[in-house]
Amino acid sequence: MPFQNENLKSYMMVSGKFIQSLQREKSPLTVEMSLSIIEIGNQAVSYMFPQSFKELIMLQHRFFQKTLLGSIAPLLLSGMLIMQATPASASDHGHHKAHAKFNQVGELARPANFREWIFIGAPVTPKDMNNGKPAFPEFHYVYIDPASWAHWKKTGEFRDGTIIAKELVSVGSKSAASGSGYFPGDYVGPVAVSVKDSKRFAKSNNWGYFVFGDDKAQSAAADESCVACHKANAAQDMVFTQYWAVLRAASPKK
Ligand code: HEC
Repeated sequence: MPFQNENLKSYMMVSGKFIQSLQREKSPLTVEMSLSIIEIGNQAVSYMFPQSFKELIMLQHRFFQKTLLGSIAPLLLSGMLIMQATPASASDHGHHKAHAKFNQVGELARPANFREWIFIGAPVTPKDMNNGKPAFPEFHYVYIDPASWAHWKKTGEFRDGTIIAKELVSVGSKSAASGSGYFPGDYVGPVAVSVKDSKRFAKSNNWGYFVFGDDKAQSAAADESCVACHKANAAQDMVFTQYWAVLRAASPKK
C-alpha cells in the first residue's frame, strides 16, 4: 500500500489540532502529553512506512515552526531522528545512504562502499569470446544504491538520484570442482558508474556516465559513446534491465 503525502498531511492536521487544543489549556503536562502522542504516531509511521518517514519529519518541522511548540521543536526533532535510525538500519542491513556527489565543475566523486549496495547481476564478456579485447573485461559485477532499490521495489522505476556501479573482475579459471565454465579471478580495471539526475543530464535521457580508474577520486562525465549505446540498446530508462534478473523479479510492474 503506497503511503500518500495526503495521509501524512491529514495525520499532521489531526495531531496538530489536538496539540493546539492542549496548548490552550496551558498546563505543562499537556506539552509532555502532546509530545508522547506525536512520538507514538511517528513510531507507527516509521515502522509501517519507513520510506515516508523523512517526509513526515519535514512536515512536522515546518508545522512546529508555526506553533508555540517551536522552541522545543529542535529537541523533539533530534529525538525523532534517532528513532528513525533504528527501523531504517534494521531494514537496510546497515547499508550506507548513497548520494551522488558532484563538485563545482560537475565531476562525480567516486561512490564509496558500493560493494555494500544491492547486487543486481554479473554478466561476463570473456576475452576468449571477444578477440581478447572485450570493452569491459570480463565479469561485470553490478550494484544499485539501497535507496533507489527501495524505490524500484515500490514503483518499478529508477528514481532521480539512482546510482549504479559496475566493477570488473577477470576470468581466473575455466574449470572448477563444479565443472567447466568461467570462474571469477581478481578485480581489474576501472569502475563504471551511471547516475540518474534529470536536471544535470536532461540532454542525455537524464543519465550521466562516469569511469573511475584505480586511484581516481573524481571523474568528469565520460564521452557520448556510453549514452549512445545505452540509449539504443537498454530495455528500460537507459538501464539494461533485460540482464538484471534481480531488478525484474522485484519490480511491481512485471
Ligand atoms: C556498445 C554498448 C555500450 C557502451 C558503449 C557502454 N555500455 Fe554500459 N552497458 C552496456 C551493456 C550491454 C550493459 C549490460 C550488460 C553488461 O554489463 O555487459 C551495460 C551496463 C552498464 C552499467 C550497469 C547499469 C546499466 O545501465 O545496465 C553501467 C553503470 C554502465 N554500463 C556504464 C557505462 C559507461 C560509464 C560507459 C561509457 C564509458 C558505458 N557503459 C558504455 C553497453 C554499453
